Amino acid sequence: CGIVGYIGHRPAFPLLIKGLKRLEYRGYDSAGVALLEQNELQVHKRKGKVQELEDLVNGRSFSSTLGIGHTRWATHGEPNDANAHPHFSADQNLAMIHNGIIENYGTLKTELEAEGYEFRSDTDTEVFITFISDLQKTLNVSLEEAVRIALTKVVGAYAIVIMSKDDPNRLIAARKGSPMVIGLGKDEYYVASDASPIIEYTNEVIYLKDEELAIISRDGLEIMDTQEVPQQPEIHKLDLKLEAIEKGGYEHFMLKEIFEQPKSIADCMRGRLNASAGELTLGGIQNYAEALAQADRIIIVACGTSWHAGLVAEYFIEDMCRIPVEVEYASEFRYRNPVIKEGDILIAISQSGETADTLAAIELAKAKGAIVFGIVNTVGSSIARATHEGAYLHAGPEIGVASTKAFTAQLTVLIMVFLKLAKRKGTIAESRFRELLIELESVPQKVEKALKSDDQIREISELFKDAHNFLYLGRGYNFPVALEGALKLKEISYIHAEGYPAAEMKHGPIALIDENMPVVFIATRDSSYDKIVSNIQEVKSRKGKVIAIVTEGDVLIPKMADFVIEVPATHEALMPLVSVIPLQLLSYHIALMRGCNVDQPRNLAKSVTVE
Ligand code: G6P
Repeated sequence: CGIVGYIGHRPAFPLLIKGLKRLEYRGYDSAGVALLEQNELQVHKRKGKVQELEDLVNGRSFSSTLGIGHTRWATHGEPNDANAHPHFSADQNLAMIHNGIIENYGTLKTELEAEGYEFRSDTDTEVFITFISDLQKTLNVSLEEAVRIALTKVVGAYAIVIMSKDDPNRLIAARKGSPMVIGLGKDEYYVASDASPIIEYTNEVIYLKDEELAIISRDGLEIMDTQEVPQQPEIHKLDLKLEAIEKGGYEHFMLKEIFEQPKSIADCMRGRLNASAGELTLGGIQNYAEALAQADRIIIVACGTSWHAGLVAEYFIEDMCRIPVEVEYASEFRYRNPVIKEGDILIAISQSGETADTLAAIELAKAKGAIVFGIVNTVGSSIARATHEGAYLHAGPEIGVASTKAFTAQLTVLIMVFLKLAKRKGTIAESRFRELLIELESVPQKVEKALKSDDQIREISELFKDAHNFLYLGRGYNFPVALEGALKLKEISYIHAEGYPAAEMKHGPIALIDENMPVVFIATRDSSYDKIVSNIQEVKSRKGKVIAIVTEGDVLIPKMADFVIEVPATHEALMPLVSVIPLQLLSYHIALMRGCNVDQPRNLAKSVTVE
């Protein structure tokens, strides 16, 4: 869900609407704004898209020069008009928007109901703002004091912005565990859950820290912690261009991001990889490089697509560095009393840098003495700040909910980090090291070539768009690619898909195979090629429909498979960077043909800041 707020000298409403549209990519189910018109707080909100909110106000113009806007992704209470944000306090003097979850809202609600309050929605947010308003009245304190006290009493995660009918000159914002950025203009301020609604107005921002409270007025900004201690904000310069968050002529962000990969992979290697000199420079991983080299095991934590990148890294690290690796879902890791000792290495992978479970796993590992590295795309994000060291992806903002270019950038960074480590440890021969650097440098051209199959993939998609199930199979480095291919299809086309290690198919999924079951094999030429050829035959002899991703020039598989899609040859350890491309395109076209909203698939959020 997304937050945007404005206070300044311009009409707030158009700025809020534009900001909400910039935040649409995060995934949401309802939208709303609060404005101050003729000394009255007005809330306009609606289930559905921002466009529906605009239809609701039907061209009316508003004079308010401050306001807050929100896109909601339901946690407490179904998506409907009443549950959409902003929420009023009972007396309608305060309006609030909120990202996150208040865990003790049930107790607070019971207490407030006992005092006679009634609630219009099922949300924790309405309870939260009612609680603040009640504190303000019963303790007879200022709004910021009431907010501050409330923050010491609520349990959970939040990023909130509040406006008051009695104070046309201030917005109050606070965060804990959910991101919040304040943009500094000239006598005007913006506040948002990420920088995208802000960058067209200013590149100067402050990242609010956990348990900080900001009092934002037209002529100044005050930040304090929940103990009332004033905080000195640090101003950051954003290095982000507006074009980076626009579609640039493509029909969807996802398509743009798929086609951007030759560039995003190259950007990610720029200044780091010098293949002819045999050099890899990773400025962000220096202080703890020795600890990494000494590690007797590595734990990787992540969610979703980032977890799949972690699985590829497991194969790579064990192969090249001879260090045992465990790859964990952050949500499982944090709740299962994991064994972590002082000096253990944890690597957290995250596109957004805000995923709540991944962040919590990092805090847990840090508390037990682990050294934590971050592989993160979003500069200045919570995970980037919570880790000891790390490397940014430099892939540019990823807007499509289904992750594409972040995945290939994550692989590129992980490959660079661990090739460098392998060299330092001496677990890789110099010649192999050099060969891999040269090969890595050529990956952007190979991805470019793989993208040329787009038309062919569109034709194949037409034939399979009505399938109810899909199976994706791969071995070795291509096994995580099979998982990723299945995830992409599920996410955006709502077709049930499973990824499996090709050999493991015999232990279950084979029972599903008949003439209606499309099976996508990622069967490029590598050390398990002969084995996967046998697996293809097993599927064919049960009449499954085989779509195979093969290495250019393969003559054997085209004889068995129903369809083949070629990708250029590369070293098997780098193949996931190339073999995932046709799978991204396949899911894109199928989803489009099924009439799905590719960039904002139902129920999904880009950045999951709740556990
Ligand atoms: C959500 C997104 C996925 C993403 C996952 C992890 O589920 O929809 O695309 O892979 O979160 O996000 P992260 O930002 O931590 O990589």
